[in-house]
Amino acid sequence: MRQDFVLEWLGGAAEKRFRRVRPEDASLPWDTLRPSDYDARAVEGARAWWTELAANEVAAVVQFSSVLSALACAQAPLDLVGMTSQFLSDECAHVELGARAAMALGGAAPRTVDFQQAVASPPSDLTPLQWANERVLRVSCVAEVLAEAAAARTFVACTEPLPRALYTSILRDEVYHKQLGALYIEWAYEDWSDEERARLGRVVADELAKFRGLWSVPLAPVGPTVDEHRLGFLKRGELGQVALDAALRDVVKPLAEIGVTIDDEAFARAFGPDVTRPT
Ligand SMILES: [Fe+2]
Ligand SMILES: [Fe+2]
Repeated sequence: MRQDFVLEWLGGAAEKRFRRVRPEDASLPWDTLRPSDYDARAVEGARAWWTELAANEVAAVVQFSSVLSALACAQAPLDLVGMTSQFLSDECAHVELGARAAMALGGAAPRTVDFQQAVASPPSDLTPLQWANERVLRVSCVAEVLAEAAAARTFVACTEPLPRALYTSILRDEVYHKQLGALYIEWAYEDWSDEERARLGRVVADELAKFRGLWSVPLAPVGPTVDEHRLGFLKRGELGQVALDAALRDVVKPLAEIGVTIDDEAFARAFGPDVTRPT
């Protein structure tokens, strides 16, 4: 069900406990951003962007919850499960950063969300291990890879201290969220049959297709610095190009190298008819 996107903060014991896990970063330069220094339309775009980032980070909490439960059910190594459990608080901290950035720019942009859509439950015909394979690939090997690539490129394009500091903080965590995929595959790979690798190829294609909207716009390389970049976001065509490059270079190619391949039809569904496979 779609609802208004709202964030609440309880304070007291909940805040104390959360802050023990994710201390507030006192070095973040919150007061350096003055919205009046920028083009009004860019500021409006930035409020929408940071609000969307906060909402996407809530969705990441939902996604990693399902990865965590799938890993535990599959009796994955305990340290890997423990490592993944920390990602939930990381993503909560990213929600907070995105929301506070929107507030620093004059307030969050109104938007609706349906986080229940991101809840995944295992189909009865999959073993716990197959379900864990699928959840890790969808979240760590696709969604987190694209998110990290976008954040990293935006950080490079961005010149202002606050958005740069926020991306630094976010990227410090995202690298591990992505790394989970490699660590998991190293552990699980020997048990993957040819059929399972083929099934996972379809799973990856299906996950990539969810991002097709990103690269279905006129694409452009990231251009010279503009107010959008200063305020911490890329133009749509720039973001699409970054996401497409990452999908081909960091998802399709390395997975194909370990036998998780996407057939031509599914590739065209995810990327459209004009994109060629990486070699
Ligand atoms: Fe995140
Ligand atoms: Fe993440």
